[in-house]
Amino acid sequence: MKINTLSVQNYRNYTTESVEFTNNLNVIIGQNAQGKTNLLEAIFLCAIGKSPRTNKDKDLVKWNSTFAKITLEISKKIGKKNIEMYLFTNQNKAIKIDKIPIKKIGELLGTFNAIYFSPDELKLIKESPEERRRFMDIDLCQFDKSYYYNLNHYNKVLMQRNKLLKTPDKNVLRDTLPIWDEQLASYGASLIMARLKLIENLKIHANKIHKYLTSDNENLEISYQGYTANTENELKILLLKKIEENLEKDINLGYTTVGPHRDDIKITANNIDLRSFGSQGQQRTASLTLKLAELEFFRENLGEYPVLLLDDVLSELDENRQNKLLNFVKSIQTIITCTDFDFHVPHTKYFVLNGKITKIENCN
Ligand SMILES: Nc1ncnc2c1ncn2[C@@H]1O[C@H](COP(=O)(O)OP(=O)(O)OP(=O)(O)O)[C@@H](O)[C@H]1O
Ligand SMILES: [Mg+2]
Repeated sequence: MKINTLSVQNYRNYTTESVEFTNNLNVIIGQNAQGKTNLLEAIFLCAIGKSPRTNKDKDLVKWNSTFAKITLEISKKIGKKNIEMYLFTNQNKAIKIDKIPIKKIGELLGTFNAIYFSPDELKLIKESPEERRRFMDIDLCQFDKSYYYNLNHYNKVLMQRNKLLKTPDKNVLRDTLPIWDEQLASYGASLIMARLKLIENLKIHANKIHKYLTSDNENLEISYQGYTANTENELKILLLKKIEENLEKDINLGYTTVGPHRDDIKITANNIDLRSFGSQGQQRTASLTLKLAELEFFRENLGEYPVLLLDDVLSELDENRQNKLLNFVKSIQTIITCTDFDFHVPHTKYFVLNGKITKIENCN
């Protein structure tokens, strides 16, 4: 998958700008606050319909404007696509694919695949399980639309069940709950099954990539916690059992304490839990490893690499890992931002100054 052209209009600090990208390494260079991250954010929006930085479309529109537009021209294995996204300050975004308006974000997913990595992604290793669930969900939603729809259904059922758990009439509660539990377990099992498969697949790639990045010093393992089952039906039975076992607890607390909305993945290096005991550098490298493993997962399952967006990551790595990373991504369309770039790899440089892309240089 390749981006041919990105055009933005009234987007963040850009007025009207259009950039053509090459198929390999594209380096966006600029001082702080010039618009480097804004550009990657605009691209990632076209992949999942959400910004990695804000949930408010209003923030994405240039101050004092009423709407912004992003246009992305891409080439895929099966031909070209055009994505147009209109963002407004006072209404929901509108999206067109090949000039045809879509009704739901679900229709956008899978049109254009991208992986976004910034120093902030350290939270993937370091912070609460929610971050790791988000990581899996973003991947699976891009890759499999039915996952996205099941996740939406699951969240709706979960909301209903939680509402019900708070009702004072315990008789009504006990009569009605089994209907919701059945649905919760059904959607939940399909989500967990997809996540188990994702982690099984990522684990193999991540282990290899991590050995490469750490010069064979670290053995990285990742595992989805709490479930081992061969079929979705086995998972459903297991989940229903857990839901029943936790019923009294759920009633007391007024919310559902088991299910995919509470799950986590464990990430260890040489048997050390990285979340609790990893050094900053170990956590950073492991989060990069997971992102690169995602690339391989997409390639294996979709038949082509997604576009890789690397925001300001080089400054966080030592020289050895910087070179290894650049070497790893050299045959994948990568858009990387930095304040300067002095590496002997073929690349194209784009200079960004105050929302203007001023100069392009090919360096082979
Ligand atoms: N809605 C908006 N309208 C106009 N300008 C905005 C808007 N949102 C953000 N900006 C401005 O865009 C500028 C560039 O932001 P961006 O995050 O892209 O910088 P950057 O080049 O990545 O810098 P750094 O190297 O510090 O990460 C910032 O100065 C910010 O204030
Ligand atoms: Mg930035």
